[in-house]
Amino acid sequence: MSLFNVYPLFDITPVIANNVYVYDKKGIQYLDLYGGHAVISIGHSHPKYVFAISNQIKQIGFYSNAVHNSLQVELANKLEDISNCKDYQLFLCNSGAEANENALKLASFHTGKKKVVAFKNAFHGRTSAAVAATDNPKIVAPINSQQEVDFVGLGDIKAVDAILKKKETCAVILECIQGVGGLDESTTKFYQELSLLCKKYNTLLIVDEVQSGFGRTGDFFAFQKHNIQPDIITMAKGMGNGFPVGGILIHPNIKPSFCLLGSTFGGNHLACAATLSVLNVINEERLMQNVKEVSDYFLEKASALPQLKKVKGRGLMLGLEFDFPITSLRKALLYKHKIFTGSAKNANILRILPPLTIQKMHIDKFFEALHKEL
Ligand SMILES: Cc1ncc(COP(=O)(O)O)c(C=O)c1O
Repeated sequence: MSLFNVYPLFDITPVIANNVYVYDKKGIQYLDLYGGHAVISIGHSHPKYVFAISNQIKQIGFYSNAVHNSLQVELANKLEDISNCKDYQLFLCNSGAEANENALKLASFHTGKKKVVAFKNAFHGRTSAAVAATDNPKIVAPINSQQEVDFVGLGDIKAVDAILKKKETCAVILECIQGVGGLDESTTKFYQELSLLCKKYNTLLIVDEVQSGFGRTGDFFAFQKHNIQPDIITMAKGMGNGFPVGGILIHPNIKPSFCLLGSTFGGNHLACAATLSVLNVINEERLMQNVKEVSDYFLEKASALPQLKKVKGRGLMLGLEFDFPITSLRKALLYKHKIFTGSAKNANILRILPPLTIQKMHIDKFFEALHKEL
């Protein structure tokens, strides 16, 4: 049987990984500044993570959500402490798209409305409502286009107001820092006005932290820099450090009822064990502090690059913008210098999304390679 050929592949087969490095089947070492698309948070195969998952599977790996699972409760409490999102409620699922899908569905249940506002260049996943709220017609199938989504420019508060005042919109969904779209971020003023408008018109504000959450920006969530209180926060990627897990944090004003949301695999024992160990390591190893320090160092090094137009993003969710497409540069970094980096919808942006454990010496290695190639 052949694989359904939807991924353009780099000709590399990683078989082993350790912290910021992956190794292919010939034993060649690669520096991972891509984190498998912002997924690796505490480093590949962190010993505490390996122990937590191995130990859990020996006890119980899965049982359905029809019975108590004390690990879910432990996870909710730990997440509340570390994220500082007090009194939010946790619902667990399995991926970023699923988190956004549940968030949009909940907003529709809660408000009784069905339209969505999303932003130009947004990416929210590939499932029904999530893909409809994604600004990329190439991945929206006819079956998805029945969802009613208005796209507005990030920062255009007047456009949001004009739509929300019609009182048909159940949710505004927002990446505070856009990931795939190219690291754009609006101002605190815009995010605060947006939050007020949502309250005024009984529209829920969903903040998509699938990529930016779990410490990647140096804050636990990227929205926290803007001092807003979203109705729903969605998360995935760094949450499981590679174990497929997603979730949503739900404001206490939104009340649950039986069967409103549900999932077979969501919140299973293994997923909880993986996420708990991620939170423990983020805390014990002060990884958010490390993100800030290494990010400052990165920005300092980047400022010495004359060929660079701009550095976008925050923490370890960064984009280097050039005035040429980065496809060949990215390939050279990978095949010649053995460094993984990422790309964006904007073809001139090289994305940097390393494990949060990365050190200054790894940044030095990257800039040495970049200098050679430029
Ligand atoms: C901001 C954001 N939201 C949602 C998703 C979808 O996540 P998943 O691929 O886990 O469904 C992504 C994936 O890249 C993302 O970057």
